[in-house]
Amino acid sequence: MGKILIIDNNEENYDHIRQFFNVLDHQVDYAANFLALESLVEVDSYDVLIVDYSIPDIDIKSLLPDLKRKMPECAIIVLCPNNIDVTHELDQASSYVFRLVQKPYYDAELYFQVKRAFENKRKAINQEEMSERGMAYYGKFIGQSAAVTEIFRKVERVSRTDVSVLLLGETGTGKDLIAQIIHEKSLRSEGPYVKVNCAALPEQLLESELFGYERGAFTGADRTRVGRFEYADGGTLFLDEVADLSLVTQAKLLRVLQQKEFERLGSNETKKTDVRILSATNKNLTSMIASGHFREDLFYRLNVITIRLPALREREGDVSLLLMYFLKLSNTKMKKKIKGFSPEAIQRLTNYRWPGNIREMENTLDRAVLLSDGPVIQINDLDLLFDQADGFAPIPADNEYIKLPPEGIKLKDAEYRLITQAMTRTSGNQKSAAKLLGISERVLSYKLKIHEIR
Ligand SMILES: Nc1ncnc2c1ncn2[C@@H]1O[C@H](COP(=O)(O)OP(=O)(O)OP(=O)(O)O)[C@@H](O)[C@H]1O
Ligand SMILES: [Mg+2]
Repeated sequence: MGKILIIDNNEENYDHIRQFFNVLDHQVDYAANFLALESLVEVDSYDVLIVDYSIPDIDIKSLLPDLKRKMPECAIIVLCPNNIDVTHELDQASSYVFRLVQKPYYDAELYFQVKRAFENKRKAINQEEMSERGMAYYGKFIGQSAAVTEIFRKVERVSRTDVSVLLLGETGTGKDLIAQIIHEKSLRSEGPYVKVNCAALPEQLLESELFGYERGAFTGADRTRVGRFEYADGGTLFLDEVADLSLVTQAKLLRVLQQKEFERLGSNETKKTDVRILSATNKNLTSMIASGHFREDLFYRLNVITIRLPALREREGDVSLLLMYFLKLSNTKMKKKIKGFSPEAIQRLTNYRWPGNIREMENTLDRAVLLSDGPVIQINDLDLLFDQADGFAPIPADNEYIKLPPEGIKLKDAEYRLITQAMTRTSGNQKSAAKLLGISERVLSYKLKIHEIR
């Protein structure tokens, strides 16, 4: 996700752009004029600035140097009316301007300019990283463990093809990141990369999101809307949380994948689409197929190649690498200069189980850097979810669920409840459930029998 700032006195115009880039998962902020800009606290955190050339009473070109000073890392895109020739006028200031886009512009045009701005920025960051000794990375994906190297190899192989790839792995293991990398390395990298979170929307909305709709298709459809299959034409469509699709939507999706065509809701016109499909889930699709919640035929369409992202605790050697990487990122974010970790802190962090994987590490370091007085992070600065060396949650004194009631408790009932919770959370994956409960798979399967849990 990137951060975009728009300066424009025409709020309507802004609304349109905002919707457009929100769909693509970028954060878009707005300032009506340059005074409003002054009040934005983190002006220098933006990746792209889109500024309208014709804001009344303002001479953009004389303001450019000042803007650039405030936002040194930001790419500036100027929207200019096509009836006046501003190219010449802006010539002197051109070293500040990333691109001129003429109005009225096309969504696609602006999209490509913004995408290019993000790419340039990423390249610059990667170069900086590379020059730092010992940084093993692949795109933005950090790691050097055997498990991860195997993933890089697989990504290399699939990127140059159009096959569907299913990304599996626990939450926070980097499925999103790998999906982006596959797109960037693919022959479609110049085309759009469109992500849809299948869990975020109810069935009807998700369908209009995917396929679009015609004006009047249903109450409230006051204008025609292009769906993401159309947006993604010529590029990549990433279906995130794909296990959460309803059976009805699964059937519709299957048809698009088989026939490469679809209709907008409320339209008879069949449209062709050329997209490469990536999908991801942290659920156990095999057991969902067995229980009738996921279509087997769709599964085979999505899963031509599987890439399984290992949990962080399975990545021998990556933890310390990632700790240094995120320490640096958090320092930049928080404008701090923490040098490293105390021996106790590093020991705690390397022994920790990281149930939330890389995302948890990223957040943990943000908090630690924020709390730390420096020069290094101490064990007290760490606020870990399961704060114990072996990684299991200590039983908090005031935890309602585990408190022994005055009249006593049936231990067997408590055990039954915890096991069913673990099984539900892992969609019936016994290996992961056993891990959550801190017992072996054998013991778990024994207990499942005793408690008659299916
Ligand atoms: N190997 C890595 N190197 C650097 N950053 C990483 C790595 N893996 C993940 N991250 C970062 O960790 C965060 C979580 O990753 P991501 O969103 O890709 O996880 P996910 O598997 O899609 O999780 P979820 O199932 O919850 O959607 C992101 O900010 C991502 O950039
Ligand atoms: Mg994700």
